[in-house]
Amino acid sequence: MEPAMIVLFGSTGDLTRRKLIPALYNLHRKGQLHACTPIVAVGRKPFTDGSFFEHLQTDDFLKNADQTELERFLKRIKYLHLDISSTDPASLKDAIEGLERQYSCGKNKLFYLALPPQIFGSIARLVKPLKGDDGWQRVVFEKPFGQDTSSAEELNKTISEVFQEDEVFRIDHYLGKASVQNILSFRFSNALFEKAWRKEDIERVEIVAAESVGVGTRAGYYDKTGAVLDMVQNHLLQLLSLVAMEPPSSLESDDIRDQTVKVIESLRLGSWRRAQYVAGSGKKGYREEDGVAPDSDTETYASLELFVDSPRWQGVPFILTTGKRMQARHAEIKVFFRRNGLYEHAKMNLLTIRLQPDEGIAFRFNARDPETGELDQVDMDFCHPCHFGPNTAEAYEALLAEVIRGSRTLFTRWDWLLASWKFIDGVVEEKPTLESYPAGKDGPEKR
Ligand code: BG6
Repeated sequence: MEPAMIVLFGSTGDLTRRKLIPALYNLHRKGQLHACTPIVAVGRKPFTDGSFFEHLQTDDFLKNADQTELERFLKRIKYLHLDISSTDPASLKDAIEGLERQYSCGKNKLFYLALPPQIFGSIARLVKPLKGDDGWQRVVFEKPFGQDTSSAEELNKTISEVFQEDEVFRIDHYLGKASVQNILSFRFSNALFEKAWRKEDIERVEIVAAESVGVGTRAGYYDKTGAVLDMVQNHLLQLLSLVAMEPPSSLESDDIRDQTVKVIESLRLGSWRRAQYVAGSGKKGYREEDGVAPDSDTETYASLELFVDSPRWQGVPFILTTGKRMQARHAEIKVFFRRNGLYEHAKMNLLTIRLQPDEGIAFRFNARDPETGELDQVDMDFCHPCHFGPNTAEAYEALLAEVIRGSRTLFTRWDWLLASWKFIDGVVEEKPTLESYPAGKDGPEKR
């Protein structure tokens, strides 16, 4: 990878410690980070380099890391104590340019905004003077990209005053998961499935991302957000885009993303259900969680029936379901093929793309039981870690590597984001009555 300075804003937060630093460490350990990749951690807390490292070490992952390699990695990191709310752009510029001279690693810069979006405006202004004609400058940030269409537009305006669209990398960490990246390869490299990927052969598609955890310590954010904005608007619609898109004209980022945008633009809502977990399986109900309003109307579960109004998918329901405090953590895509043929007892073929935890793909089909002569359902099963090894890059590792390479396929383009918000605004407007489900169960009673 090319040399670049990584400037982490919000470096004392959870995301940096739990995801970004371990991901950068892994890239370093695998020899993928150029030797000239200093990491400047900007933060308001008065850490020194030493106390910042101690703060990082509270994470188990780094504790278990190879100590010699870790020491080499930590040499890349420089803690820059700076309060972004009061610093003037000139002092940040001086500090960064001073480090640039010290490291002599060229002018490429990656700014990672691991901060709430309300602060993006101030950062954009701070960073503006650092943008020059030498080398590349890229900005990385992640959701929430707004709460609705107009706030997303506002946020985009702030960012685009400083960065061009091709310098902006909006992270949806689901796109960094190896099993999600495989959807495109699976669909477009296997003629058998590619030919049957259409309404004539597929009866319905279900996409599920279930979590066993509750709201945890994030009630402040979650109670204003809920399952639709937290999970559907981004992760689940991204999965749907990959499942339903037309073949791109090439594997170039923009050709792929052109097709994913079209999926979102042709979405139509059938109906949806929303629910909230109540006490169950020894766990508190959502309204009893710390920081949640006792009369909260926020959904922790959502299930939407959607249609993609394109010639390929006309009339095929896509059912997207997500929830917290469900029975078990799992995310998967199920494609149900239409029944066909002479055998009246034949069951549907089912393709299951397991995204997590046991990544893989299973195909269920009918086979003759030699004892009874009846049809039975059997599985062909591909286990991703058994074949490719258990150490597949974690989402953030893959995403950071892609930013440094300048490849944009795994990032959300503005027109996709805008289309998704327009669709979600309509969903939220049709808000159904809130139902409930006991913690530890897979959502409300089936109807
Ligand atoms: C985040 C949501 O984007 O994704 C969280 O804000 C959720 O609420 C998380 O828990 C789920 O990610 P994963 O990778 O564990 O499925």
